[in-house]
Amino acid sequence: MGIKLLAVSLPLLVISIAVISTAADEKGEPLITKTCGGTEFPDVCTSALESDPRSSSADVKGLSRIALEFSATKAKEAAGVAYKLMQNSSDYGDWSKRTTCFDGYNFTADRIKGEGLQYFEEGKYEKSHQPVNLLTDDIKFCTSFGVPQLVETNTMLSRFTSVVKTILHLLF
Ligand SMILES: *[C@@H]1O[C@H](CO)[C@@H](O)[C@H](O)[C@H]1NC(C)=O
Ligand SMILES: *[C@@H]1O[C@H](CO)[C@@H](O)[C@H](O)[C@H]1NC(C)=O
Repeated sequence: MGIKLLAVSLPLLVISIAVISTAADEKGEPLITKTCGGTEFPDVCTSALESDPRSSSADVKGLSRIALEFSATKAKEAAGVAYKLMQNSSDYGDWSKRTTCFDGYNFTADRIKGEGLQYFEEGKYEKSHQPVNLLTDDIKFCTSFGVPQLVETNTMLSRFTSVVKTILHLLF
């Protein structure tokens, strides 16, 4: 009877070990799909992560790093859009709103790339999250000015930021 039990439980044991190690080593597309599925904008998340070639072999930590870098890249892009508008302002009111949007995005992008990534490398994930929170504030502030030419940029940036925050939260 003891032998029979062993014969039954051994394959089960082998199967459970296989399942556990798959979960721990999960990488690439299945991990991206799973990770992005837990965010508010899975499509935005998937296209962002997949645009980086490193994502195909990244684990959760790797994907979080890519997402964090991506939020800085997107903030810089938004700063670029605001900068062009700023240079082409016809009155002080417009110039002032566009400059505020530009300054916020430009400054916060550098903070994410600087202290954000540094904290991330040190394993201080919660702290690395802080400059991303700043970006959320910048977006809210810029959006409150109602600059029509920045509506789309702000909407996209706000979606990316939401995704990045959710993914970073997986680490702490
Ligand atoms: C600059 O602003 C004017 C309106 O003030 C607009 O017609 C023009 O398309 C703008 N140019 C650029 C490059 O944004
Ligand atoms: C963007 O920010 C960096 C530092 O945060 C600053 O050195 C640079 O001058 C800013 N760019 C512009 C055009 O203001």
